[in-house]
Amino acid sequence: MRTEFTVQLSSFPTRKFASPDTWEGFVEMFRTGQQHLPQAWAELFGPLRNGMVDDLVIVGQVGQSLDGRVATATGHSKYINCPAGIEHLHRLRALVDIVVVGVGTAMADDPQLTVRHVAGPQPARAVIDPKGRLGANAKLFAEDGVRRLLITAEGSLAAPPPGVEVITLPAQDGSISPCAIAVALKRAGMRRMLIEGGADTVSRFIAARCLDRLHVTVAPVMLGGGGPGIDLPPLDRADQAQRMPVRLHKIEDDVLFDCDLSAQRMTLGVAKKST
Ligand SMILES: NC(=O)c1ccc[n+]([C@@H]2O[C@H](COP(=O)([O-])OP(=O)(O)OC[C@H]3O[C@@H](n4cnc5c(N)ncnc54)[C@H](OP(=O)(O)O)[C@@H]3O)[C@@H](O)[C@H]2O)c1
Repeated sequence: MRTEFTVQLSSFPTRKFASPDTWEGFVEMFRTGQQHLPQAWAELFGPLRNGMVDDLVIVGQVGQSLDGRVATATGHSKYINCPAGIEHLHRLRALVDIVVVGVGTAMADDPQLTVRHVAGPQPARAVIDPKGRLGANAKLFAEDGVRRLLITAEGSLAAPPPGVEVITLPAQDGSISPCAIAVALKRAGMRRMLIEGGADTVSRFIAARCLDRLHVTVAPVMLGGGGPGIDLPPLDRADQAQRMPVRLHKIEDDVLFDCDLSAQRMTLGVAKKST
């Protein structure tokens, strides 16, 4: 497999394009798909514009410590990454149609999943909650004119507030197929999807070969015990692990690994025609 390794230790564009107007302009260009994207932004966000495999683009993200933790032992995960890392997450949100989290994150952090640290449109938001554990007062369910979706398992007792769209899917041993989730979201009109966390949810999408890209932002901190990062079925030998094309970007003191998983991605939407 081809391994692309581009080190860009000083060219992350956060500072250069700090003006919200400029970012807004970029978001518009990104969405219209007509023009070439400005080079500085294209490097990082260009791959999210169009899928390599089909008409969907599914990106996962994880922010973790050097010792591979996404939260402390008490479940606290805010500010593992530097402020520019938070900005990066909000830029990702601004570029996608929908942000998806697992119910573990929704219950631990009660996130709003809105774009606040940069300018940009608000994506729809969804929680994967197979048993209907999330309370109706969760912030991601708040009525604010944006579409809100609950993805749950058949037979669950989920009772979201009015206006929340419910997608019910079959579950096997409590697990809903990530591919079925992506296809259901496509049917709901979503083309670009951000699987924002937590690590359990992102791991399921990786294991099911349902991600085009994975952004892992590593902060130079150590958390000791705590919430583990990506957790996949074990391999016997280290040399069985597939190497993937990756680009590195520096975000203040953090390092972003932008991993290209398209070579292993399942076809879920309208397949690209080979030329
Ligand atoms: N650093 C970061 O980037 C980051 C980002 C987000 C969250 N976090 C932290 O991560 C922690 C929570 O993450 P987590 O990994 O424990 O949980 P999570 O991924 O947020 O949620 C996992 C739960 O979501 C449900 N779920 C997700 N995908 C499913 C599927 N395909 N089929 C069936 N159920 C599915 C299951 O619910 P049931 O248990 O009901 O079956 C599962 O146990 C919190 O401490 C949070 O602060 C960190």
